[in-house]
Parts: sequence; structure tokens; C-alpha cells
Amino acid sequence: MGRVDSGTFDEAISAWRQWQDAPWGRLRYAIAAANLGRHLDHALPGGEPGRILDVAGGNGVEAIRFATDGHRVTLVDYSARMLAAARELAYKAGVADRVTIHESDVAQLAELLGEGLVDDGNDLVLCHNLLPYVTDVEATLAVCLSALRPGGVLSIICSNAHSEPLRIAVREQDPSGALEALDAPTRVAKTFGTPVVPRTAEEVGKHLDKLGARIVGHYGIRNVCDYMTDDERKYDASFYAELERLELALADRMPYKLTARLFHLVVVKSAE
Ligand SMILES: C[S@@+](CC[C@H](N)C(=O)[O-])C[C@H]1O[C@@H](n2cnc3c(N)ncnc32)[C@H](O)[C@@H]1O
Repeated sequence: MGRVDSGTFDEAISAWRQWQDAPWGRLRYAIAAANLGRHLDHALPGGEPGRILDVAGGNGVEAIRFATDGHRVTLVDYSARMLAAARELAYKAGVADRVTIHESDVAQLAELLGEGLVDDGNDLVLCHNLLPYVTDVEATLAVCLSALRPGGVLSIICSNAHSEPLRIAVREQDPSGALEALDAPTRVAKTFGTPVVPRTAEEVGKHLDKLGARIVGHYGIRNVCDYMTDDERKYDASFYAELERLELALADRMPYKLTARLFHLVVVKSAE
């Protein structure tokens, strides 16, 4: 897979917002927040305002939530339209003074850190749904870790390669499609209409090991939602509430998290 152009994300902003508002999008953010909530005492001790970097933070849904909680947030992304939406969200929430936005390719993040344009002493770095789009996962993780203070927390969310064959088999009832997907190096991300490389927690874990970072949390996001065929039902408020309760209960349970739509790793940078 070649490098994905920022225009891909500019053009898909409406589809992305629709996805975020859909039940599966809402679950993505709700489960991620709950997972991360278990580690915030470590990242942001005593509930004190901290410094957070959102790498490829898109339209800022998570960054602005943290700013609303009193933290200073820096958001880096290369899509001008995503960032315009993030700015608007920050103004509407009244937190624009706590949010710094850099329009940049993540490949340039090391330079931004080197020039002091982005802080390298963050308490928490988010790397959410970026890894499927990058060609060098280890370099991306390394630069995310270099933006953290020793002992700081890195949160990684990524589409799970183990999910796609199962989804095609169960949901689409297409055994040959599922068989093909087993060893396919890429799949097409529907919302952005671009090929992506789903990863596995094992693969990302090996890179983190090499980088000397310690995984302290491994969760699944949407362990069951995407295998349920009746999407309409997920819009029903009481059904959604039950589904969310179930997903929250399954998020850190074996074996369900292994085939979740997304994996979520929470990592601590070594303190030395
Ligand atoms: C799926 S969205 C995720 C946005 C946000 N992290 C979230 O989870 O809500 C992917 C984001 O990554 C950004 N992105 C992808 N490749 C990038 C790169 N090389 N440099 C900067 N941003 C990138 C896109 O512009 C887009 O906003």
C-alpha cells in the first residue's frame, strides 16, 4: 500500500461524521473512553490538568473532550478539513485556548518535536486509527513515544486484522470471501474509500517490545456489534444501551477481545 493522501480524508469528512454518529461510531468512542479511563490515574495523576497530544486526531472529538476536562491538548493531523472541524468544535465547546492545532504529516512529527513546536513531555499521547494508514508502524510508534514524558501513557487504537475474515463469514455469509481475506494484506476502509492495512495487537506488541514500552492494557472495541447483521436495531435507544453494556463488559475479556473490530493497547513509556 502506498502513502494515503490527505485529500482522501478532506473529501470524506461528511461520511466520517456520519460514521461517528452511527451506533458503531458512538460505541467506538464510548468503549475507548472507558478503557482509557482505567489508566488516567497513571497518565494524569490526581486529576490535575495534563498535557495531551492527539496524533492524527482528525476532527478532534477526543481531543476536545480532554480539553473540556481541563487538559491542554495538541492535535496534529494533515487533513485541513478535519482540522477546520476540530477548530469549530473547540470554539463551540469554549476550549479553543486549551487546544493547539498543527496541520502536518505525522512523518514530520519528529521535526516538530525537535523544533519545540510540539511538546515532548506529554502525559498522554493518543494514536487512534492512524496505524492502518502508515507504512512504517515502528517509526510511528517511536515518534509517539518520544512525545511522552518518562512514565507517560500511549493509547493505540487500530483496526484488527483478525476481525475482517470473521465479519465476512458471519455477517456476509461469504465463506470464499472470508478465505480470501485471511491472507489479504489490505482491505478497503468503507468510510474513506481507501486501502488500509489492518494490524494485529501481536504485531504492534512486538514493535512496542523493541521500543522498550510496556503494555498495561489490551482491550477489544466492538467485540460483537459488527457481527450482528441487524444494523437498524442498533439505532433503537434501549437496544443500543444493552449493546453498550455488553461491549463494556467484553472489552477486556478473553477470547472475545481477540476478534474485536478494533484493538486498543494502553502502553507506558519506561521511566528511565
Ligand atoms: C480514521 S481518522 C481517525 C481520527 C481520530 N484519531 C479518531 O480516531 O477519531 C484518521 C485520521 O488520520 C489522519 N492521517 C492519516 N494519515 C496521516 C498522516 N500521515 N499524517 C497526519 N495525519 C494523518 C487523517 O487525516 C484522519 O484525520
